[in-house]
Amino acid sequence: MKDDARLSEEETMLRSIEAMLPRFEKNRAQLIPILQAIQEEHQYLSREAMRLVADYLEISPSEVLGVATFYNQFRFHPPGRHQIKVCLGTACHVAGGDIILENFERKLGIREGETTPDREYSVERVACVGCCALAPVAVVDDKVIGHMQPSKIEGLFLQFDLQREQEKAREAGEEADAQAGS
Ligand code: FES
Repeated sequence: MKDDARLSEEETMLRSIEAMLPRFEKNRAQLIPILQAIQEEHQYLSREAMRLVADYLEISPSEVLGVATFYNQFRFHPPGRHQIKVCLGTACHVAGGDIILENFERKLGIREGETTPDREYSVERVACVGCCALAPVAVVDDKVIGHMQPSKIEGLFLQFDLQREQEKAREAGEEADAQAGS
């Protein structure tokens, strides 16, 4: 069922990209602007999306992939509901940012740049986020967490679990209210 939903989500995305492509000249120089426009609209570049772009520009899919992977502005997986960014700028790297990243990867069973299969979490590395005095830094759902330590990771996920439980309870309560009112 979930797979069906994902499939139709991908189809919808591809249709929207097909509709968007004619806005761009069929010219190799348009490759990056096209990829940026797709990412802005859909938050990531899927393999099929890149194949469509390759067909449109009459270049090979591997050329599109090569350009997209060269720039680290592009993501290749849909972002998770919770986005975890680990700073690997110089100050954070020196302060052990890579260990923080490894711990998140291990906890979630995914690599940097990926999203968990349930789409709850994505992890990525970012360049300096501008608060080096707090190194090492992670940004979780736009909240900056300074002096990050592997031992803080478990607590973070406990908070997410709690949040999810509360959301479920609230939804169940709203459903019960709606049924009582009908
Ligand atoms: S290097 Fe991480 S905040 Fe500057």
